[in-house]
Amino acid sequence: MTQAPPPCDGHVFVADNSNGICTAATALKSGAIVAFPTETVYGLGADAGNDDAVVQIFAAKDRPSFNPLIVHVADTQVARPLVEFTVAAEKLAQRFWPGALTIVLPRRDDAALSLSVSAGLDTVALRVPDHETAQALLTAADCPVAAPSANRSGAVSPTTAKHVAASLPGPEAGGPAYIVDGGACRVGLESTVVDVTGANPVLLRPGGVAAEEIEAIIGPLMAPGEGAPRSPGMLERHYAPATPLRLDASEARPGEALLGFGPNTENAKCNLSPLGNLREAAANLFAMLRELDAENHVGIAVSEVPDHGLGRAINDRLRRAASSAAAC
Ligand code: TXA
Ligand code: MG
Repeated sequence: MTQAPPPCDGHVFVADNSNGICTAATALKSGAIVAFPTETVYGLGADAGNDDAVVQIFAAKDRPSFNPLIVHVADTQVARPLVEFTVAAEKLAQRFWPGALTIVLPRRDDAALSLSVSAGLDTVALRVPDHETAQALLTAADCPVAAPSANRSGAVSPTTAKHVAASLPGPEAGGPAYIVDGGACRVGLESTVVDVTGANPVLLRPGGVAAEEIEAIIGPLMAPGEGAPRSPGMLERHYAPATPLRLDASEARPGEALLGFGPNTENAKCNLSPLGNLREAAANLFAMLRELDAENHVGIAVSEVPDHGLGRAINDRLRRAASSAAAC
C-alpha cells in the first residue's frame, strides 16, 4: 500500500492575480517554498540559489537527496550563466521553449545554484515553462526556481491546487508557505526530459513534448542505460495510486472500475478521451487516477492507449503506476 497522505489542512491558497503572485514571489525571495501552476503539473518551488530553501523541498516531499531538481527560468538568457549550451540544446530551446521540455546540460562551475539542485551530478536540468502564472512568478522573484512536481515523493503528480494540498503537509509542518491556485494544468503530464550532455541525445523521461517531435529537430534519441546516462528519478517508485491497476483491459472485472480511452467504452467510470484524443487523455490522466483511487475499487482496469506521440508518456506513467501498485 502507498502511505496515507499527510494532513492536508492549514494550507494557504493565493489567487493567480498580481497580489497572489507578488505574495508568492516575496516568500520565494525570503527563502520559503511555494507551490505554483505550470502547463505540465504543479511545481514546488524554491530559490535555486538558496541552499536552505532547496533543502526544504527535499524534506517537504520526503524526496531522496540523490534525486536532482529541475531549475525553471523565465527564458533562455537566464539559463545561459548556469550551464554550457550545446548545439543540440540551442536547437531544442529555440523550438520548444517556453514549453514542456526539460534539457539536461553540463553545469557551469560558477553557476549560482545550490549544489543540492544537481544532487551531486555535474549537470543541471532546465525548463522554461509556458504558463502565464509561472512566468509572472519567475519574473517577480527574479531568480531561477528549483521545482519538482508538488507531490509527496512517489505519489501521483498534482494537476490542480487541491491535489497539491492533498499530497503535501501545510506550512506549519514544512510544506509550502503558499499554493498559487491557477486552476487545472493544460498538459497534465510532466515535461519530457532530454540529456544532451553527450554525443548522442538521451530521452530520460517521455512527457509533454512527444519524442517524435524532438527527433525531428535533433535526430534519434537513445534510451537511458547501456552506456547512456540515466535519470536518478526514474529509478524510484513513481506515480502510484493505492488501487492496483490492470492495463490494456477490454472491460472491468467484478469490483474494478474501468478507465476508458476512446469510443466503445460505455461502461467506463471515467474516460480519458471519448474521442481518442491523446492530448485530452494526457490532461485527464492524473486527475482521473486520483478520482478512481479515492473510490476504493478493488482495482482500476485501463483501456489500451496507443503507444505513439503523447501516448508513450501516458503509457510510461501507467506502467509505473501498475508495477508499483502490484509490488505493494
Ligand atoms: O513538468 C515537469 O517537469 C514538472 C514541472 C513542475 O516543471 N517537474 C517535475 O519535476 O516533474 P520532478 O522532480 O518531479 O521530475 C524531474 C525529473 C526527475 O526524474 C529527476 O531525476 C530528473 O528530472 N532530473 C532532474 N535533474 C536532472 C539531472 N541533472 N540529470 C538527470 N535527470 C535529472
Ligand atoms: Mg515528480
